[in-house]
Amino acid sequence: MTDTLPLAGIKVIDFTGVQAGPACTQLLAWFGADVLKVERTSGGDVTRNQLRDIPDADALYFTMLNSNKRSLAIDTKTPEGLAVMEQLIRVSDVLVENFAPGAMDRMGLSWEHIQELNPGLVYGSVKGFNDESSYADLKVYENVAQAAGGALSTTGFWDGPPTVSAAALGDSNTGMHLAIGILTALLSREKTGQGQKVSVSMQDAVLNLCRVKLRDQQRLERVGHLEEYPQYPNGTFTDVVPRGGNAGGGGQPGWVLKCKGWEDDPNAYIYFTIQEQNWARTCEAIGKPEWADDPDHRTAAARQERLFDIFAGIEEWLADKTKYEAVDILRTYEVPCAPVLSMKELAYDSDLRKSGTVVEVEQKQRGTYLTVGSPIKFSDFTPTITGAPLLGEHTDEVLAELGYDADQIAAMHADGAVGGARTGELSAPGDVVTASQQ
Ligand code: COA
Repeated sequence: MTDTLPLAGIKVIDFTGVQAGPACTQLLAWFGADVLKVERTSGGDVTRNQLRDIPDADALYFTMLNSNKRSLAIDTKTPEGLAVMEQLIRVSDVLVENFAPGAMDRMGLSWEHIQELNPGLVYGSVKGFNDESSYADLKVYENVAQAAGGALSTTGFWDGPPTVSAAALGDSNTGMHLAIGILTALLSREKTGQGQKVSVSMQDAVLNLCRVKLRDQQRLERVGHLEEYPQYPNGTFTDVVPRGGNAGGGGQPGWVLKCKGWEDDPNAYIYFTIQEQNWARTCEAIGKPEWADDPDHRTAAARQERLFDIFAGIEEWLADKTKYEAVDILRTYEVPCAPVLSMKELAYDSDLRKSGTVVEVEQKQRGTYLTVGSPIKFSDFTPTITGAPLLGEHTDEVLAELGYDADQIAAMHADGAVGGARTGELSAPGDVVTASQQ
């Protein structure tokens, strides 16, 4: 099955950690690439140990971002470890890294050296900021990128502070951008035979998703207000795009509305959209048919002035309906809406299980856990999600593939240049046993 997947035969060195890089390479692994996670001998990817829910098992943070991969534990700061890495680069198609700025150069793996080793290699790199940025030296995590990319200043309520989004706009989003870049570079290589460096900065990737806010900045500078924001027409605007709370943001006004039970359930809400072309049916749906032709409600301009009175009227209609009952009625009138779903509801959602978007995966030592499967659906194949590797689980196997014999492999274990279980054994996660310690 794996051999027939679209990316079968593509060898990827996954020299990444935390979330942005691993999310990218995990996607490539799902689609058939042979993804080899190269990790430090002590502890490996830091997420193996972060936020553990089972003391002796790799954390979900790691297992949910590193499925379908193999793991090689090497110390690239030893001559033998660096030689293994160079050998891998010679025989691979893609290398992905998201280390702190300068770390690859310090390791002796500059882009120039990598090109010498393998001119056909596609080198994918994530950094916090792009090379032209005056912040290019910074180490960056998710919320730092959200701050720098415009997401923070435009998220939240106007009378509160800038607010982070729960969605990984800086991390996984950057990884998805990088995956697109890598696949594009692989297609280019088909034509030219040449590899290239593909760089994505977290700031740029966040800004790309905040594109509509840059639209709004320019509109604001031209006309002085933004009519779809709650501040219009009764509030004030400055010269920067304000936080719009739960406003629709596009041409269709929307808001989060309370449903039956909101007093006790923090998620007893729906998101409700007033679609211009569906106004008459929307009025019917919410029991206000008289609003359809009323001059105070008939046009978008008239509604804008009393938008929050309209939403209050809809909340009166919602008061005796659960979020599910409300959506079941509204969908028959083609109102764009959805219940606000909790993570618990998503975890046990039978539709998401059926589609393979939420999947149960088997992990050594952990047992079964839930993860998010491929959100991309193909007509010709369905990605099968497998468990993440233990640290160094494939060290000996990979070294043998590279041509090292048993004595050489044993010597490298003894020197601490490589880590992981010796053939036939499994190490405890995040705690590599080298031959010298056995
Ligand atoms: N063998 C030997 N050394 C290794 C190794 C290996 N297999 N793998 C990594 N290292 C070393 C690196 O060379 C580096 O050494 P140096 O500092 O002496 O050069 C060291 O481990 C730590 O690297 P790194 O993980 O990058 O640093 P950090 O833990 O201090 O910073 C980040 C973590 C995420 C902040 C930083 O990597 C970063 O800003 N990355 C770019 C943006 C990004 O991807 N952010 C995370 C998004 S989820």
